[in-house]
Amino acid sequence: MSKYKVVLSEEQIQSRIKELGAQINRDYKGKTPVVICMLKGAIVFFSDVVRCLDIPLTMEFVRLSSYKNGTTSGDMELITDIDIDITGKDLLIIEDVVDSGKTLSFFIELLKKRNPASVKICAFLDKPERRTVDVKVDYVGFRVECGFVIGYGLDYAERFRELPYLAEINSPEDLDM
Ligand code: IMP
Ligand code: MG
Repeated sequence: MSKYKVVLSEEQIQSRIKELGAQINRDYKGKTPVVICMLKGAIVFFSDVVRCLDIPLTMEFVRLSSYKNGTTSGDMELITDIDIDITGKDLLIIEDVVDSGKTLSFFIELLKKRNPASVKICAFLDKPERRTVDVKVDYVGFRVECGFVIGYGLDYAERFRELPYLAEINSPEDLDM
């Protein structure tokens, strides 16, 4: 049992990921996508998704930072870039949550300048009501309302990424820190 208010259980998450994996396998049949993990938040989701794929693929890891600490947005920064030539490649970006859309739109603009064959997004969570920049998510794990959530890769002040479930926090006082 969890100490926190669980919004998605481990079982719910894993069963949805199997469906997403099946969909990605169908869509990328005959292709060898470059699957890009957006560190740090997507690491847990990425690890589960790639293990549901039976198509040939390669992996890349990038790190962008928009949220500094806590729940407020800071400036965008590219900390770790892809280190291969992506010209003509099919890119599948794996992200933890698309919130305002700023992180992904910044990153996609940057990728498109390098002439990939295609760019698609797979996000564990989509918060469409919070969007300020237009970003289309091709594969959505779950659509969620506006609350701040932790676990399954998502952090509050760098903590709680290891939780196998997703929990909502109303105030930092709820947290055992
Ligand atoms: P965007 O640029 O506003 O779309 O922000 C996306 C990033 O904000 C995600 O990759 C997360 O790191 C962070 N983020 C947004 N909402 C949450 C949340 O509820 N919990 C934890 N991190 C979040
Ligand atoms: Mg993130």
